[in-house]
Amino acid sequence: MSKFTSLRGFKDILPEESDRWLWVESTAHETFNVFGFSHIRTPILENTELFTRSIGEATDIVEKEMYTFQDWDGKKVTLRPEGTASVVRAYLEHHLSEKIPLSKLYYIGPMFRHERPQAGRLRQFHQIGAEIIGDLDPRQDVELLSLLTRFFERMQVTDLTLEINSLGCPACRPTYRAALQSYFEKYLPELCEDCRRRFKTNPLRILDCKKEACKAIARNAPSPIDHLCAECREHFKAVREGLYQLAIPYQIQPHLVRGLDYYTKTAFELTTNKLGAQNAVAAGGRYDGLVEALGGPPTPAIGFAIGVERLVQLIDPALVPTSRLRLFLAPLGKAAGAALFPLLLALRRKNIRSEMGNDAIGLKSQMKRADRLGAAYVLIVGENEMTQGKAILRNMSTKAQEEIPLSTLIETLSAKLS
Ligand code: HAM
Repeated sequence: MSKFTSLRGFKDILPEESDRWLWVESTAHETFNVFGFSHIRTPILENTELFTRSIGEATDIVEKEMYTFQDWDGKKVTLRPEGTASVVRAYLEHHLSEKIPLSKLYYIGPMFRHERPQAGRLRQFHQIGAEIIGDLDPRQDVELLSLLTRFFERMQVTDLTLEINSLGCPACRPTYRAALQSYFEKYLPELCEDCRRRFKTNPLRILDCKKEACKAIARNAPSPIDHLCAECREHFKAVREGLYQLAIPYQIQPHLVRGLDYYTKTAFELTTNKLGAQNAVAAGGRYDGLVEALGGPPTPAIGFAIGVERLVQLIDPALVPTSRLRLFLAPLGKAAGAALFPLLLALRRKNIRSEMGNDAIGLKSQMKRADRLGAAYVLIVGENEMTQGKAILRNMSTKAQEEIPLSTLIETLSAKLS
């Protein structure tokens, strides 16, 4: 083994797993396209301030998880820990609102967070994300959630729970924050050190603490739902009605909060009980203040991101389309090798997945290799076949063999295999 290994929390995706990844990605492209979303790719490295402004100074991500370093020119840069901030930056930088007033964008790519690695939690992980920028209508929330649930339906991943909540807006959040603080104040000595700090900086985050003592105290904490202003209450009601109308099942989770500060109104998570502690396969919500916070005009928006590593674990491998090798050419001897080699490119031009063995190697070893590659057919050409002007085609699953004239090889094979 080489003395080099990948970094902790950074993972190779090997061929045995990559079929699943390709299926997830191609299904995402198809489904998001059907829902009217356009693909966007943004750089993985951005100015650090973009993330501190968007995600919030008092969040775990900004406080301790970002891969930040000084570039050669002294500028502070960060490997993106999530995609929303970059998409909004690109939306503003390229004036997308002038070209498409309602921008519906999606992205697929790696994100970086220096978290403690464990099953389902990596330092480089991948997200498939979608953002709708430019509309406050609760119907957008429902449309986005219908895309999310439709995508998982297409991947045939079931047993998921859609948990929703409303986090309010700048009008009602301060009242809720005060209610939370007055509730937690009584328990301050019993809260963990992190939560005692959060009490002042970001009391909503206490609701998300994983420590048992804090969880027990948070159980009876007030919910933002009980402190919503009239507009947020109406919005939340319309979202619930829309989900009901589309028969999308959901549960209200009155203590659901998010690890990023930009959220307003609707927030949600799609969870599973099949992945242990890291149970969120997707999450998101409204962020009606972010575009403005990054220097744009007041612009409502909503989005989600799916954790690809977690999704891939939930997929039934039997459903994944695999592209098997159709044909293995097995030449025996130099003359056969020379005759078959041009055929390989001709077959590939016909989109038949084919591979050729080494003509200096015996039939048994070549058959073994064909078998290992999962070839559906093997074409055998030895000295005898060359002189008789024919080849032997072997069906690897039925073991049936037939003879094919060398003169019509391409026509016969492409008719049979494509
Ligand atoms: P997030 O909840 O931080 O939201 O991440 C979304 C999903 O990414 C999680 O539910 C999880 O499946 C996956 N994920 C997050 N961290 C890790 C990790 N360390 N290892 C493996 N998977 C992980 C966001 O990132 C928001 N930008 C979502 C959004 C888009 N909100 C609005 N638009």
